[in-house]
Amino acid sequence: MMKKLFSREEIEKAVKKLAASIERDFEGERIVFVCLLKGSFMFTSDLVRHVKNPSRVDFIRASSYGSGTRSGGKVAVTKGIEENIEGENVIIVEDIIDSGHTLKRVKEILSLSNPKTIKICALLDKKARREVEIEGDYVGFAMTDGFVVGYGIDYAEQYRNLPEIYVMEEEGEA
Ligand code: IMP
Ligand code: MG
Repeated sequence: MMKKLFSREEIEKAVKKLAASIERDFEGERIVFVCLLKGSFMFTSDLVRHVKNPSRVDFIRASSYGSGTRSGGKVAVTKGIEENIEGENVIIVEDIIDSGHTLKRVKEILSLSNPKTIKICALLDKKARREVEIEGDYVGFAMTDGFVVGYGIDYAEQYRNLPEIYVMEEEGEA
């Protein structure tokens, strides 16, 4: 069963607020948005159109592997960025920070290219599930637990097209 967690209006409001914070912090400076595929494609497209700074958009894809369903800390980049980010303000755009392994690794890899600054913008933050020290600099919604889908976020590649965010509930749960 799926229950609506965040409406289109709530998401739009959160995205605009994040964009405003980014504009305030970077005051007309250049920004390179690095969209962490695939989950943040929709979030990135909405976020960038609200940020008026001169900006570029690039994409990176990472997959976590290891035993079972948890990422287990092993993260491989399967598609790297193509833009030169040396000396640039980089903002990694992520759908959800969960254990933090993915972002920690991606941030480390991008840092090797010597950006001027590197920040994380995440739509959702499951802080209680963190396994490594990593924080979102710009966070849309904090959430406790539950598996969400929609607005780019999938379950087995499904539901990315939903315009709202839903939480999946197992049968029998309250
Ligand atoms: P981390 O490395 O554990 O932080 O993994 C974060 C990634 O796990 C996110 O970018 C999502 O792709 C995926 N993920 C975490 N929680 C959810 C969820 O509730 N729904 C869908 N994907 C999720
Ligand atoms: Mg993801």
